[in-house]
Amino acid sequence: MGSVIRSYRAEDESAVRQVVTHAFADEGHKVAVLVDDLRAEHARCELVAEEAGEVVGHVMLSRSWVDARRALVEVLVLSPLSVAPARQGRRVGTSLVAAAVGEARRLGVPAVFLEGSPTYYGDRGFEPATPRGFIRASPRVPEPAFQVVVLDGHEEWMTGALVYCEPFWRHDCVGLRDPELGRIEHMFES
Ligand SMILES: CC(C)(COP(=O)(O)OP(=O)(O)OC[C@H]1O[C@@H](n2cnc3c(N)ncnc32)[C@H](O)[C@@H]1OP(=O)(O)O)[C@@H](O)C(=O)NCCC(=O)NCCS
Repeated sequence: MGSVIRSYRAEDESAVRQVVTHAFADEGHKVAVLVDDLRAEHARCELVAEEAGEVVGHVMLSRSWVDARRALVEVLVLSPLSVAPARQGRRVGTSLVAAAVGEARRLGVPAVFLEGSPTYYGDRGFEPATPRGFIRASPRVPEPAFQVVVLDGHEEWMTGALVYCEPFWRHDCVGLRDPELGRIEHMFES
């Protein structure tokens, strides 16, 4: 049976925490707390994937900014994306990404950013952000991982550095740190 994508409801809180914690394994607790803080402060859209009444996936879009020369431009960051380990590989993540980008389009924002696998997200509508004139929030974001979907509201002048909302920094969820950073950079080089 396929999953249904719908908006997060307050009663999903503990199911979402479980999905996020299990999906991110060693980092699970940290990412689950990030989700709580984003929800309280900066979330603009939160979706769950449900199968037979059970939450099996989750995605969040939260407010961040592009620091353009003319003005700060409000954009969205798609993060985190989580699918329960037992339900991975069945396109739940693909459906959540598509629905989140659809919501961003509906909200009229100019762009959605994320950090992640260029293979995974490249096949799901994202493109490298640097060639578009955007600048990573930190040099610890491997350049191929820095990706964007540019939407209708985008204008040529809306380029510059991506500024994450504060919870990403508070929970050290911007970019990677060594030894993981070195490992991923090496993987992209080879
Ligand atoms: C990444 C994740 C969200 C994908 O969700 P999913 O429902 O399993 O993915 P889908 O079924 O839509 O897509 C499956 C494809 O994604 C690929 N994939 C899964 N995880 C991947 C990863 N970390 N990097 C690159 N590709 C990945 C699979 O190999 C498969 O490829 P194929 O279509 O060529 O066979 C899920 O595996 C997950 O929750 N992982 C742990 C948390 C995480 O890493 N989140 C993303 C952070 S940016």
